[in-house]
Amino acid sequence: MEKIEILDMTLDDLAQIENCLISDFDDFWSASILKSELMGPNKVYIVAKQNEEIVGFAGFMRNLLEVEIMNIVVKKNCRRKGIGKLLLQKMIEKAKNDGAQEIFLEVNENNKIARQLYQNVGFAEVGKRKNYYKQENAILMVKKLLLA
Ligand SMILES: CC(C)(COP(=O)(O)OP(=O)(O)OC[C@H]1O[C@@H](n2cnc3c(N)ncnc32)[C@H](O)[C@@H]1OP(=O)(O)O)[C@@H](O)C(=O)NCCC(=O)NCCS
Repeated sequence: MEKIEILDMTLDDLAQIENCLISDFDDFWSASILKSELMGPNKVYIVAKQNEEIVGFAGFMRNLLEVEIMNIVVKKNCRRKGIGKLLLQKMIEKAKNDGAQEIFLEVNENNKIARQLYQNVGFAEVGKRKNYYKQENAILMVKKLLLA
């Protein structure tokens, strides 16, 4: 696989993502929501780039000693190459550097791939939120971050 760089997301990145958000990244939020996320306080967004092409992105929100993962998505034709894991590991590293003690997220109960990805990097399933996504349940997952 060609080298993947993980960088902080910029407004220029957003313009690139906007054009292919629905076609290449699943039906994943809208460009306007993503922009308000990127500009919002306590939000940290990163991109995965391969030869200047954005092949994935992810973001989290800081809340005192906790961090909540807001999203993580990889371009459809670039999946299963370890990019999702790289993005997740970078968010964990940034959360640790920020002094967070735990990192949590909600994932659709039916999203077996994402649940597996999170488990692989040490998240544990600690609860269920009924009908969180319209008719579908969310699984709450947490990873405790060891303090240095
Ligand atoms: C979830 C997602 C980000 C994973 O990205 P990815 O780059 O394909 O993931 P990776 O290649 O790093 O795979 C990491 C692990 O996820 C699991 N996984 C990934 N694709 C899988 C598949 N098709 N089937 C089963 N498990 C899979 C595996 O456990 C894999 O580890 P392994 O390769 O060592 O077995 C990607 O599938 C995606 O963008 N999905 C749509 C958006 C989404 O659902 N986001 C999560 C919202 S909470």
